[in-house]
Amino acid sequence: MENFTFYNPTKLIFGKGQLEKLKSEIPQYGKKVLLVYGGGSIKRSGLYQQVTSLLEEIAAEVFELPGVEPNPRVSTARKGVEICKQEGIDFLLAVGGGSVIDCTKLIAAGAKYDGDPWDLVIKKAFANEALPFGTVLTLAATGSEMNSGSVITNWETNEKYGWGSPATFPKFSILDPVNTFTVPKNQTIYGIVDMMSHVFEHYFHLEENTDFQDRMCESLLLTIMETAPKLLQNLENYEHRATILYAGTMALNGILNMGYRGDWATHNLEHAVSAVYDIPHGGGLAILFPHWMKHHLAVKPERFKQMAVRVFGVNPEGKTAEQAGLEGIQKLREFWNSIGAPSRLADYDIDDSKLDVMADRAMANGEFGTFSKLNREDVLAIYRASL
Ligand code: NZQ
Ligand code: ZN
Repeated sequence: MENFTFYNPTKLIFGKGQLEKLKSEIPQYGKKVLLVYGGGSIKRSGLYQQVTSLLEEIAAEVFELPGVEPNPRVSTARKGVEICKQEGIDFLLAVGGGSVIDCTKLIAAGAKYDGDPWDLVIKKAFANEALPFGTVLTLAATGSEMNSGSVITNWETNEKYGWGSPATFPKFSILDPVNTFTVPKNQTIYGIVDMMSHVFEHYFHLEENTDFQDRMCESLLLTIMETAPKLLQNLENYEHRATILYAGTMALNGILNMGYRGDWATHNLEHAVSAVYDIPHGGGLAILFPHWMKHHLAVKPERFKQMAVRVFGVNPEGKTAEQAGLEGIQKLREFWNSIGAPSRLADYDIDDSKLDVMADRAMANGEFGTFSKLNREDVLAIYRASL
């Protein structure tokens, strides 16, 4: 296990009826609030009405930035930064999924930065400070509600990168499972794949003596896999929504990966695909991850065998570690197929015509991955296998 420092200042407020807490949380940061949301789901669900009523009760002066896209764009964040600077915004409230939250993070940091917010995303500048912001999460997936990361797309240049800083943790996040009832089946599936993928990104590392961390990862995977089919049968089941919501936050808030660094190559591969084709993040991961795994089986077969046996119930008797590991990967593919996740790039009408562009994007910062470094040939091999 490596030395580590764990830091996560986000106040997590979980459960039914917790939205009311906006009234005690927001006034700590000021009066002028920028409400950031997406393409309209919160208006259809009634959440917008509830939030604005509460803001009215605390006499907040509310400005709005609607229309944050899934795979949020820097152009939208720029609009938000302009509002913050012009109006002297004190606090930002993100109401939505990971995209709305990620966009809000860039606005919060961009408001304290003199140049173009894109500089922060491409790491030309570092976000030393940010306006305070909170979130009301409506979709279980990214963990953005309790981490400092943000993923932003520049649609003009077809680039999509992750960035973040200690200044971009939400001050608080309100997670009421009821607010996720309206998430449609496909987005629920993408969210499930995304949170499982976050666990896999952690799980495949080369560090030794991580028994407790391994068991936490495995337990989270088992819980998600046990709950997902039941939830997909009944999208308005509070208990299942709650389990998945909590699991999504725990999968990427720093709790799982104390003492080692995860891999994160598959996320880089996926961001390159969605930068070019604008596909849902979870959908891309469902296609790519099993191929990343197969490509790396030989790096540390025992690790794949452990996952296969403990998470997918593979019987290792009479099998090499690679054989057992491969069976585990196949079982993952079967599980994702069984819940209706996509399995090939062709499912999004993606053919081999832009493989080079995607590979360029993936290789933008050179070879990547900590479990095993991927070079351009590896990247192309994984994309080709995923067609
Ligand atoms: O825009 P609205 O109308 O709100 O609709 C959204 C959107 O169309 C809809 N939705 C959200 N909550 C809903 C709902 N529909 C009905 N009822 C609700 N309660 O769902 C659609 C997708 O929303 P989005 O926010 O894009 O999904 P998600 O939370 O999966 O976020 C995906 C983005 O997060 C990034 C991804 O790359 C992608 O850009 N990621 C961010 C991470 C982070 N910050 O830590 C890590 C992740 O690995 C990921 O890369
Ligand atoms: Zn993800």
